[in-house]
Amino acid sequence: MSRKSSLILFGATGDLAKRMLLPSLYALHKDGLLPSGLTIVGTARSELTDEEFRAKAKDAIEVHLAEDRYDPAVMDGFLAQLSYLPVDVTTPEGFDDLARAVGGGGGDLSIFLSTAPQFFEPTIAGLKSAGIADGARIGLEKPLGSDLETSRQINASVSRAFDEAHTFRIDHYLGKETVQNLMALRFANMMFEPLWNAANIDHIQITIAETVGLEGRGGFYDDTGALRDMVQNHMLQLLALTAMEPPADFDATAVRDEKVKVLRALRPVADTEMVFGQYGPGSSGGNSVPGYEDDLGKASDTETFAAIRAHVDNWRWQGVPFYLRTGKRLAERRSEIVVQFKCVPHSIFASRGAKLTANRLVIRLQPEEYVRLLVMAKEPGLDRGEVTLRQVPLDLSLSETFKSRPRRIAYERLLLDLIDGDPTLFVRRDEVEAQWRWIDDIRATREKSGVELKHYSAGGWGPSAGIALTERDGVSWND
Ligand code: BG6
Repeated sequence: MSRKSSLILFGATGDLAKRMLLPSLYALHKDGLLPSGLTIVGTARSELTDEEFRAKAKDAIEVHLAEDRYDPAVMDGFLAQLSYLPVDVTTPEGFDDLARAVGGGGGDLSIFLSTAPQFFEPTIAGLKSAGIADGARIGLEKPLGSDLETSRQINASVSRAFDEAHTFRIDHYLGKETVQNLMALRFANMMFEPLWNAANIDHIQITIAETVGLEGRGGFYDDTGALRDMVQNHMLQLLALTAMEPPADFDATAVRDEKVKVLRALRPVADTEMVFGQYGPGSSGGNSVPGYEDDLGKASDTETFAAIRAHVDNWRWQGVPFYLRTGKRLAERRSEIVVQFKCVPHSIFASRGAKLTANRLVIRLQPEEYVRLLVMAKEPGLDRGEVTLRQVPLDLSLSETFKSRPRRIAYERLLLDLIDGDPTLFVRRDEVEAQWRWIDDIRATREKSGVELKHYSAGGWGPSAGIALTERDGVSWND
C-alpha cells in the first residue's frame, strides 16, 4: 500500500481536540497551509462513524474558532479530510486497523497523542508492534509524568518506538507568537543583549496569572497543583528563553542546547524562597465565586498559586533573582516577563532635584501583546533651576502593528511544525528532565520544611506571603 501523508489524532473526542486541535487544523486548512492530500484520522474509544465524528468536529470548530478565522465555504473540504476509527489502545487489534487506514508507518506520518497518561505506554507499544511507529513523528501532550522518575519511564517507553529526533514534546507556550517574539527581541536587536546580564539587570519577574478556577478539571488538577501544572513547564520555558545565551543559529539543536544549560544552572530553592497558596471564596469578573475546595467538592491541600525566587547560577545571572508567580483565580488574566534594569550609576540631575526611576522592560505575552520599555524623559517646561523628569512608556503594540495578520492559536504553529518535522519549538528530553529535577527538589524541600499552604481570596493577587517574597528584597510585583 502506498504511503500517504497522514496525521493520527489520539484523543480525538477529548477536550483539547475540541478546543484547540480541530479548530487549529481547520484554520491551517483554510489558509492552505496543510500538505495537500493530508488525511486526518481521529481515534478514541467511542464508537463513532466518520460522519458522526465530522459533525462533532464541525460543532467544535464553530464554537471554538474566532469568528474572523471562520469561513463556512471551506468547511466541507476540511471535513472530507477527516475520518474516524475507534481504537481500544489496550488491545493490539485496533492498531492493525489503524495501520491499514494510514498505509503503514512512514516518514510522512505524524501522530498526536493527547490521551490520559495511563494510555500512553499501551498506545506507544501498539503503534510499534503494528509497524506504525517506524519513521513517524510523535507529538506528546502533557502531562508527561508527575516527577523525574515517571517522566523518565515515559521517555524510555517512547524512545523504544521513536527516536528523539522524531519525538515532539509539546509545551503550548512555545507555540505562542509572543513567546517566539522574545527571541526576536533579544537576538534580532542590538540594544538589549549587551545589557542583558547581572551588571545591568536588577531582577526579572515572570507572571502567568489566570482568572479561571478549576474549569471542571478537578481530578487532574488536584493531583497536579500549580507547581507541576504551570511552573514545571511553561514558566521554566519562559525563564530559559529569557536567560539563555544567544544560540548560534535558530535551529532545534542550537536553541535547545542553550535552554538546557539554563535549566541545569537553576539553583535549588530554599524553603524561604517558595510560597504556595490556595484560593478561597471571592470574586471573579464581578461575580462571587466559591473557593477551591468547594469547586472540588472535598478538602484538599493542593496549591493553586506558587511564587518562587529562583536563581540561575552562571556568570551572566549571578545575583539576579528571577521571581516566578502563577495562580488561578487571580485578579486578571496576564502573562508577562518584566526585566528590571538597574539605576544609572550616577545621576547628573540629582543636583537639580530630579529623581530617576530605573528602566523597565515589560514583555506582555497575553491577553494584550506588547513590548513596553519604560524610559526617563524630561517633562516639558521652562522651570528655572529644577528639572522634572518622568518615566514614560516606549510602546510596541504587536497586535496593532501586525493587525492585518491573523491571531493564530498556538497549536496551529505546533501542529504544522509537527507535520513538517521541525522540532525547534518542542521540548527535548534533557530539558524536561532538568525541569523535573528542579521541581522535584522544590517539592522535597517543601515537604521536609513543612512549608505551609497559605489561603487567598479569589480575585486578588494571591497570598500576602507572595507579595512579601519580593518586598523583602525591596521589589514590588508589576501589578
Ligand atoms: C495548561 C494548564 O497547560 O495551561 C492549565 O494545564 C492552564 O491549567 C493553561 O489554564 C494556561 O494556558 P494559556 O494558554 O491559557 O495561558
